[in-house]
Amino acid sequence: MTQRRAIVVADSAGSPDMVADALSRFGFTTIVPSPRLDQALGRLRAEPFDLLIVPLHRIEPSQLAMLEREIRGRANLSVIGTAPTADPDLILRAMRAGVHEFLVFPPTQQDLAAAVERLIIRGGATDHSGQVIAVYSAKGGLGTTSIAVNMAQAFAANDTRAKVALADCVFTGGDVRVFLNLQPAYDISDLVDKLDSVDGALLTSLMTQGPMGVSVLPSSEDPVMDDAFDAATVGVVVDQLRANFDVTVIDCEHHLSERTLAILDAADRIALITQPNVPSLRSTQRTLSLFRRLGYAETKSCVVLNRFQSGDVFTLSMVAESLKHELFWNLPNDYRTSVASLNKGISVSQEAAGSKLARSYGQLAAKLRGAAAPRDPVRPATAAAPERSRLRSLFGLTGRSPSVT
Ligand SMILES: Nc1ncnc2c1ncn2[C@@H]1O[C@H](COP(=O)(O)OP(=O)(O)OP(=O)(O)O)[C@@H](O)[C@H]1O
Ligand SMILES: [Mg+2]
Repeated sequence: MTQRRAIVVADSAGSPDMVADALSRFGFTTIVPSPRLDQALGRLRAEPFDLLIVPLHRIEPSQLAMLEREIRGRANLSVIGTAPTADPDLILRAMRAGVHEFLVFPPTQQDLAAAVERLIIRGGATDHSGQVIAVYSAKGGLGTTSIAVNMAQAFAANDTRAKVALADCVFTGGDVRVFLNLQPAYDISDLVDKLDSVDGALLTSLMTQGPMGVSVLPSSEDPVMDDAFDAATVGVVVDQLRANFDVTVIDCEHHLSERTLAILDAADRIALITQPNVPSLRSTQRTLSLFRRLGYAETKSCVVLNRFQSGDVFTLSMVAESLKHELFWNLPNDYRTSVASLNKGISVSQEAAGSKLARSYGQLAAKLRGAAAPRDPVRPATAAAPERSRLRSLFGLTGRSPSVT
């Protein structure tokens, strides 16, 4: 069982023995008492915790704002607030600050256990950490969006219990909404607007239902919004998706900016798309070499050869040899089915379930889900506010971030 850690401010959950009993069945092995909220928040900044319990009636408005800032962006932290009476105004203020559950003080062991259980079911204090798969190619037109869309559909079809998200991180003017003929009420710019207060329920409500129940986060249609998507913001979006979905598939921009790098860093696996021709393979060679310099594990990069057909000048072994990298998968060339599906705004398996291409997307999704990717030997810095642009330092540049193609 996962070992969880809780921090309890000023005995706000009742007697320490009762709290230990209530929490132990959920795998809490460390329960840290903290006399004051500011001390507890200090520990939270320094060490990971899954649960925070606070006495709401003893928290000043300025402290509530401080609490809100700390909760923000910590998708895996659950917060329970307690107070001697169930004052609706107090509860509302607490919920707005990001507190997940309210209990009348002192809670019974059953009430406390039930609240923690609800949080675990909702995914708040769970070890819920979904798989994030970035679909990327430095060159355009190789099939990145087709693969992202159809792979997300295939993940959901392969495991109907899995919560699957598809995010269009071609932040403005991306194609996912067109490929799936969606008329979304909201898009990624609405999520970024609400990033301070986002939780699982809000995130889901901003997403649009796609094929097989895939939750789609479309890109913005407003080019003016483009600057809103910086690396730190994008890092938080990916964290939220990971915390709330079993699998998240991300269609990435081809331009390798800091924000795309933030996604690639955070991803468990990168489906690196290429095709059996010289320009595509050259571009993929350069990308793989860059990934090595970034410290990514070899197994993080899953090279997917798209539009392969027997009789191609390049055989599979020639492709692997030229890339000095194992081929993870190859998808057959089937332009008719591919283009018919995207023209109709449906997935390939909705267009032609029995086609080789539909089956191959399903097998690719199964293989990606199968073995967990090992961690990078050198885990790159997280997306949030890098001290110095990693791209610039990688290329020894001092000016603007370069585009790497
Ligand atoms: N396996 C395939 N067989 C045949 N055609 C394919 C296949 N995969 C994708 N295509 C076709 O390739 C074209 C480009 O696909 P797609 O838009 O998915 O690529 P992209 O890399 O996302 O392009 P962009 O640079 O616009 O982002 C489309 O016309 C699509 O139908
Ligand atoms: Mg695309």
